[in-house]
Amino acid sequence: MTRPQGPAVVVREATPADVDAVVGILVDVAGEGRWIGTEAPVDVERRRRRMAEDVAADDAIVLVAEAGGEPVGQLGLRLAPYGVADLGMAVAAGWRGRGVGTALLAEAVERARKAGAHKLALQVWPHNAAALALYERFGFRREGYLTRHYRRRSGELWDAIVMGLPLD
Ligand SMILES: CC(C)(COP(=O)(O)OP(=O)(O)OC[C@H]1O[C@@H](n2cnc3c(N)ncnc32)[C@H](O)[C@@H]1OP(=O)(O)O)[C@@H](O)C(=O)NCCC(=O)NCCS
Repeated sequence: MTRPQGPAVVVREATPADVDAVVGILVDVAGEGRWIGTEAPVDVERRRRRMAEDVAADDAIVLVAEAGGEPVGQLGLRLAPYGVADLGMAVAAGWRGRGVGTALLAEAVERARKAGAHKLALQVWPHNAAALALYERFGFRREGYLTRHYRRRSGELWDAIVMGLPLD
């Protein structure tokens, strides 16, 4: 498929200077209300503190995707002591469908493997077709289904698909 032209995307590890921008992306995507577990209103100060801890931590990896010098996507990995890297990611709405998610995920697979993880794991809403397509293209398998599991602020109970990608 031909992708729209635009500035090249660079994926790198986040630094403390990226914390506000990375949290900003999460706040915006949370505001869309449909894609990630985090819901609006986000406690931004708390989120920034936690993100700064993750950026500095040995058991977490935060990646940022930049286009034209602007952060347009982020991916977080949390490395559990039993060898599983839990993944969450988000691309700014105006940048989706241009390969940013692919670039982030490819880097995350490499980083997780280098960190010694034997598996990547994540959860995704069943209606998130773009995320499911991306994960399945990387070889993630559907390992489980959580029924009426997550209480949303609206009061609704949402299902989630559990996915995994072996790295060993
Ligand atoms: C999911 C997400 C990270 C993907 O990032 P992205 O930059 O759009 O991903 P890419 O452009 O690299 O690739 C997306 C793939 O999904 C496909 N896709 C996009 N929208 C789709 C849709 N509605 N239905 C099916 N496939 C779709 C694209 O065709 C593409 O696959 P292709 O390259 O084989 O054509 C991004 O959509 C996003 O941030 N969404 C909001 C937050 C979110 O859902 N996070 C994940 C929570 S589990």
